[in-house]
Amino acid sequence: MPRTQHSTIMMLLPGLVGLLLVLTAEARVGDSSQLQFCTETEECLLFDPICQINDLEVRNYSSVKWVSTSESSMLMEFAAMNMFRRLFDYIRGSNDQGVVIDMTSPVLMNMPQKSWWQTGVFTMSFLLPDKYQKSPPKPTDGKVKVHDTPDMTVYVLSYSGWMTTSSINNAFGQLFTQLDAIGAKYRKDTRYAAGYNSPMTIMDRHNEVMVVVEGKPACPSQD
Ligand SMILES: *[C@@H]1O[C@H](CO)[C@@H](O)[C@H](O)[C@H]1NC(C)=O
Repeated sequence: MPRTQHSTIMMLLPGLVGLLLVLTAEARVGDSSQLQFCTETEECLLFDPICQINDLEVRNYSSVKWVSTSESSMLMEFAAMNMFRRLFDYIRGSNDQGVVIDMTSPVLMNMPQKSWWQTGVFTMSFLLPDKYQKSPPKPTDGKVKVHDTPDMTVYVLSYSGWMTTSSINNAFGQLFTQLDAIGAKYRKDTRYAAGYNSPMTIMDRHNEVMVVVEGKPACPSQD
């Protein structure tokens, strides 16, 4: 009897190992040492690199959960202060479990499509650490929500320095110019700006702007 049990386990083992690999590959919030530009938090949003187009990158992101809040404003800088405070309160314990949650990277900003003088809705998101991805603590502030980003393929342009309205607009301008020059198709309705550094960091700051690929990414052919 123990013998049959043993061989049953041996037969199941390859399947279990396979399952474990799949689960590991699905954990898309992970150790920051895997990302050279993610240096200030223990966990970061990970991705699969797909290809490089000049100085643009194509990446695959898996669906992940974020805690988010929105604010209407003319300037990102004004909106950001209120949004950051609300999200910071959430990770400091303003949630139904009263738990303190580690900061992760990047902080994501969803930028409205608008002219500079218009008011638009900005959304800021903190990425939930791996241990809270399955069942995030519920926010106690009604303006703070948990939301998912779907699996997505994105075009990314990285730049250094500070994340300001003008640096973000400038980076998006460069991203769109380069994508339009090669006839790449992308969604116009979602514009993400990602920041990887605290405001206290002076050197080696890393920021990104990204848009979602429509159809197949315009990767250079392999030959
Ligand atoms: C990237 O995502 C696309 C669309 O979901 C998928 O077809 C492709 O296989 C993915 N590539 C990798 C390397 O994960």
